[in-house]
Amino acid sequence: MKIEFVASTGAAEILAVLVNEGRALAGAGAALDQASSGALTKAMKNSRFNGASNSSLNVAAPAGIDANAVLLVGAGAQDKQDDLAVETAAAAAYQATKLSGAEVLTIDVSHLSPELAARAGFAVRLAAYRFAKYLTKQKADKIPSVTTVRVVTSDVKAAEAAFGPLSAVADAVLFSRDLVSEPANILYPAEFARRVKELEALGAKVEILGEAEMEKLGMGSLLGVGQGSVRESQLAVIQWNGGKDGEAPIAFVGKGVCFDTGGISLKPADGMEEMKWDMGGAAAVAGLMHALAGRKAKVNVVGVLGLVENMPDGNAQRPGDVVTSMSGQTIEVLNTDAEGRLVLADALWYTQDRFKPKFMIDLATLTGAIIISLGLEYAGVFTNSDELAANIADAGPKVGEKSWRMPIPAEYDRHIDSPIADVKNMGNGRAGGSITAALFLQRFTNGVPWAHIDIASTAWVKDSKNPTVPDGAVGYGVRLLDRMVADHYEG
Ligand code: BES
Ligand code: MN
Ligand code: ZN
Repeated sequence: MKIEFVASTGAAEILAVLVNEGRALAGAGAALDQASSGALTKAMKNSRFNGASNSSLNVAAPAGIDANAVLLVGAGAQDKQDDLAVETAAAAAYQATKLSGAEVLTIDVSHLSPELAARAGFAVRLAAYRFAKYLTKQKADKIPSVTTVRVVTSDVKAAEAAFGPLSAVADAVLFSRDLVSEPANILYPAEFARRVKELEALGAKVEILGEAEMEKLGMGSLLGVGQGSVRESQLAVIQWNGGKDGEAPIAFVGKGVCFDTGGISLKPADGMEEMKWDMGGAAAVAGLMHALAGRKAKVNVVGVLGLVENMPDGNAQRPGDVVTSMSGQTIEVLNTDAEGRLVLADALWYTQDRFKPKFMIDLATLTGAIIISLGLEYAGVFTNSDELAANIADAGPKVGEKSWRMPIPAEYDRHIDSPIADVKNMGNGRAGGSITAALFLQRFTNGVPWAHIDIASTAWVKDSKNPTVPDGAVGYGVRLLDRMVADHYEG
């Protein structure tokens, strides 16, 4: 998708103008309405279109206007033209016209700031994401025709300047979505690691640890999960040092289970294919590092990804096995399908032990129970730091990635005590399943300020109502944490 910023409309194929609630034509809209002897107001009067967010009305070939069509795009309340309102409008304009046959979509936001014009271009890049690499017989009319979006702005230079860092974030979200979309025969731990290596081109430092190195470190918990797979487990360590020399980094840790069969505690066949996206946490952290390096963020950051495949096998870990984690704590593995926490236990311990970070945030498609708790639009935030809770809560509404803080009550900690090891990898029955998972992780944080974001609910979407997020891989967490870092931890 090509995004261009221009000072005037010129002759347009499709010209999109924003309409605020109450059918108020914004920007160039009023002048266009006059030039067409009221064709736009007439079209609105004869329809139910009223300017509501995420709606549009196509007005074909209005006489007196130099365009094949004018698309009226709902932008919501006039006094609420913030980042998200403009992103939604621009993305909705793209979704409404992408299959129209037109190649160029022009969106007029000349009445808004150049920063908001940049947001419009950013939103179109997110909206235009498709994972089409394995479609060899696409019908021509299913392939988007729009390849260029021109954004009309009052200040081209300023819009282009604001678009630079936003475009870096868009690159990162698309990178993350590609990782999540790939099937597990293509994206296994070593291939994931290879793709992460590409972040070196952005100036990040990337190290890949294999099984021999992890064995030396004593990572029996992570290695136990990958033990039944023919694919070698990997730990990817990404560093971006854009901050002050020697300043302690902030750290992000991702669950990268490239496929989760459940292991010997095998999952049912129905829906198991969804477990290709059980690496969504690692993809979010990889995407976040891509964003921070891409826009040269002024902060020291490390990203650690635990990459494994959870398979049943003659050599697979058994229910009841006891493994020794890098922390020295022994773990009774009661259910081999509670594997994400086993991977994160060693990844978290390694991260704090090696980097002494100011804080750690992990992202993981950790529990089905978080979907029961919060439904499919909110991620669950578990943290022992009110500061992290506040900063995550602050960033979410700015980028449209919703989350909700959950408790991690000390009273429940005894539920993961094991009679034969230091800890067991599940609670008693299904009660509070996301909470006992978080309590398990907390035992491997060594007291470092920490937050855990359970994204099992939000990593993948099936009937998206958000025009910037097509169905499939969301890239959830990239924008949320990029914004949190930008607003609270840079400079
Ligand atoms: N990857 C799953 C969690 C999951 C479920 C993610 C549905 C996305 C959608 C995780 O590894 C898992 O299997 N968790 C178990 C834990 C249980 C065995 C204690 C679960 O949630 O059932
Ligand atoms: Mn599992
Ligand atoms: Zn899993």
